[in-house]
Amino acid sequence: MHPVAKAAAGIAAAGAACFGWGLIERGLYTVRRTELSVLPAGSPDIRVLHVSDFHLLTRQRGKQAFLASLAGLKPDLVVNTGDNIAQAAAVEPLMAALECLRGVPGVFVFGSNDYYAPHFRNPLRYLTVGPSSSDGDDEPRRELPHRELAAKLEGLGWTNLTQDRAVLEVAGQRIAFRGTDDAHLERDDYAAVAGPADEAAVLNVGVTHAPYLRLLDAMTADGMDLIFAGHTHGGQVCLPGYGALITNCDLDADRVKGPSTHTAGGRTAQLHVSAGLGTSPYAPYRFACRPEVTLLTLTAG
Ligand SMILES: [Fe+2]
Repeated sequence: MHPVAKAAAGIAAAGAACFGWGLIERGLYTVRRTELSVLPAGSPDIRVLHVSDFHLLTRQRGKQAFLASLAGLKPDLVVNTGDNIAQAAAVEPLMAALECLRGVPGVFVFGSNDYYAPHFRNPLRYLTVGPSSSDGDDEPRRELPHRELAAKLEGLGWTNLTQDRAVLEVAGQRIAFRGTDDAHLERDDYAAVAGPADEAAVLNVGVTHAPYLRLLDAMTADGMDLIFAGHTHGGQVCLPGYGALITNCDLDADRVKGPSTHTAGGRTAQLHVSAGLGTSPYAPYRFACRPEVTLLTLTAG
């Protein structure tokens, strides 16, 4: 074989192997555990289960079983940062899987994929606009049953933080929350929840789907101790030894997933971005980026 043809065949074989692994890795659901020192001295630990970006389909039984097992982590609080479903019919199996968490205090916000069904687009768009983008084309968007989904999540006892504030008692401690609608769809209106932090709370928490810098800046400057977001899929297709190529928003790739910090207005907040559990059905692979939920143990500083 000609050396050029041989090299081309080698590259094609390596590409096929990577794609094949990406199809396997998308099903390797993982619990990542981390500790954050954010509570006032003397406060007992709080166990937070951060879940995000399921993009659930009815046929994804393994993902449903994984979700149904999460009560075993015995969280004190669930934070759900959106992109729950990828089809209307997935609401029912989603709620069946999350039933195990009924009674655990929870908060949630929605992402673009809670509002609109995904549709096919050129896979090369991944490298330009990212894994879960719903912008940049003219195809009409099909609405998902987001009002029904919100009502059912509220039925679990969880609080909808979409453009809202709330105070919850979690493990006997007062936590103040504020959340926004999806910044990727430009539905966010931080002014509606802006204002000083709750000084009577042991923790002030900001929750949003997509970690756009405008929201991180505003929440941090207002004194949020901890901010939760999803949306990035951890980059979804990463280079081993290098990391994520994109974040699908204006956040830098160094903070694409896991714990980090954000500084604005002379204050610093802890940031936790979930790499999420799923993918768009039209980009059904993950590489060097396990699908995950996170159990964060919040400890006293
Ligand atoms: Fe997503």
